[in-house]
Amino acid sequence: MNNNNKEKKENIRYLIPESEYDYDHPEVIRWTKYFTEKAQKRNVFINIRATLENQRTCSNRSMIAAQTMASAWYDFTCYVPVFITKAVTMTDDPERQHHLIQIAYDELGGRDKNFIHSNLFLEAIEEIGVNRVDGPSTSSIKEILDVLDKTLVNTKSQAGIVGLLLSFEIIAEENIEMLFDCLCHDESSSEILSKSPFFKIHRADETEHIRHSVANFLRFCNTDDDRGEFEESFDAGIDYWHRFWDQNARLINIASSMKASA
Ligand SMILES: [Fe+2]
Repeated sequence: MNNNNKEKKENIRYLIPESEYDYDHPEVIRWTKYFTEKAQKRNVFINIRATLENQRTCSNRSMIAAQTMASAWYDFTCYVPVFITKAVTMTDDPERQHHLIQIAYDELGGRDKNFIHSNLFLEAIEEIGVNRVDGPSTSSIKEILDVLDKTLVNTKSQAGIVGLLLSFEIIAEENIEMLFDCLCHDESSSEILSKSPFFKIHRADETEHIRHSVANFLRFCNTDDDRGEFEESFDAGIDYWHRFWDQNARLINIASSMKASA
């Protein structure tokens, strides 16, 4: 094990005590790789990456991208605990409820309200001078969150609910880095954001959210039927990420052309 991995391992925090599916468990490693590769094949960042590069060719940094993403991510981050707790209300077994609720609890600050993630996000963008913008961008992202909400409500199987929750987390590390890139609108943003509790927490903890969700798959989805239903919902969840990032790319392009023609 190299020093980096060793250091990472020593800093690992488990959401709840784990007696079986820890990071070294071969099934955790195998299925994390499987679902990560399945999600990566969908190329959900293709349009937002091209858009961001295009913005930077024009002006080096982009306040338009930063404001658009700040608005979208705030709506998303407020919705996360709502989505997970709704999934828990649709879950019929108390032990499964116990495991599924943990990430929502984490998102809401755990035992300390000063760590509510959506509030930490507002503090982070305020520090780099980025404001959220209200308007068509906000409502179009809310529509995309609505589609996800309907997908959840229409999920008929218990395994499907668990699958949707893993799809929510599986590309979390890439999501956070893409968000970071979009928000960096000037030379000082990167350093300020890196030191912000919001990014520090997310860079440290997303791995555990993914492991925890893969452990839920291994714990609760054991038959072929379960695994089929899990995967169907997982795919629908990745559709959501595609829509989310594509819509942000579109909104950044629209706002830029409006600014150029003003
Ligand atoms: Fe979060």
